[in-house]
Amino acid sequence: MAESNSSIPVRRPAPVVGTTLREHVLAGMHAAPGATGDFTSLLNHISLAIRIINTRVRAVGLADMLGYTGETNIQGEEVQKLDAFANEVLLNVLDRSGFCGVVGSEELDEAQIAETHAKYVVLFDPLDGSSNIDTNVGIGTIFAVLRRTEPKLSRPSLDDALRPGRQILAAGYVLYGPSTVFVLSTGHGAHAFTLDPSIGEFFLSQPDIRCPRRGTCFSVNEGYFSRWSPEVQAWARWVKAEKGAAAPPIASAEPFKVPYSSRYVGSLVADAHRTLIKGGIFAYPADTQHTGGKLRLLYEANPMAFLFEQAGGLATTGKDRILDIVPTALHQRTPLVLGSKDDVTAFQQFVDGSPT
Ligand code: AHG
Ligand code: MN
Ligand code: MN
Repeated sequence: MAESNSSIPVRRPAPVVGTTLREHVLAGMHAAPGATGDFTSLLNHISLAIRIINTRVRAVGLADMLGYTGETNIQGEEVQKLDAFANEVLLNVLDRSGFCGVVGSEELDEAQIAETHAKYVVLFDPLDGSSNIDTNVGIGTIFAVLRRTEPKLSRPSLDDALRPGRQILAAGYVLYGPSTVFVLSTGHGAHAFTLDPSIGEFFLSQPDIRCPRRGTCFSVNEGYFSRWSPEVQAWARWVKAEKGAAAPPIASAEPFKVPYSSRYVGSLVADAHRTLIKGGIFAYPADTQHTGGKLRLLYEANPMAFLFEQAGGLATTGKDRILDIVPTALHQRTPLVLGSKDDVTAFQQFVDGSPT
């Protein structure tokens, strides 16, 4: 971000539909005292990587990009060709930017540590929803950016990445759906940009997204019902208004309308984006197979939690705030409950049983 060229603070203009992503990020730079332009340039590099991935996603069936590479990643998952491609694009573009001291990817066993004093940490899930690639269902990319605490005085290390999500500088996701939508927050609200593929530019399409206080949709993989705790099972029975379901312990001025409708895509980005825009709740609770949860804290739960909080929503483990978790490992997992304030609170009341 360039030095602001006057002592008069530049007011951050309200985001206007039709603004490009570049202009939006630049306006943030001009409003940030002492900005150097590095963060702006880093975000533009991330946008470039996303646009390259997008072109390949749009032709995945034609470009010999379906199917598997034959490798297995540290998650124990078979790596799909598009996972590997998206990972390579992000690694190369971020490396060429020269701004990253630490890069962590779902597809890399270890974090990449630079031999420089580069300022930023970028953590990403290069391709989210891999199980949906071959069936042309919505998939995405998720990332978080943190600023190293003393970049000039210290060498980059994994510790720069193992910090609670509340210290995130910027987070975003891209949903490669009917259109390509990039939802970004730099800590001043959550804003959605839609790609105009004819000119390769993202334009602001939904400024200041607000997650409704309550929704009517729940999103969870009910196939795992038998693996959940009794408390989560009680919540699941309540949202479906099953006969004899426990009454929600939450005292709410306005009674909940149950049954909720059910939507589950199986791509976090798609399920989260619908929940962010329409409200409701997404949950991937711990279960007997995933005792610590399935979703990864650093590059799935944290970025999503940052965005939901910026939009007035909540993001918890079912008990604790996601953004307060102090990470101990790059690929650690967490239970994740995302969504509207009232709906996440109702879930929480079932799970931690706290009195209303
Ligand atoms: P990824 O493709 O990056 O491994 O992420 C898949 C995740 C997430 O996108 C989704 O919410 C979840 O896996 C779905 O898991 P289930 O298929 O077990 O429901
Ligand atoms: Mn993922
Ligand atoms: Mn992934």
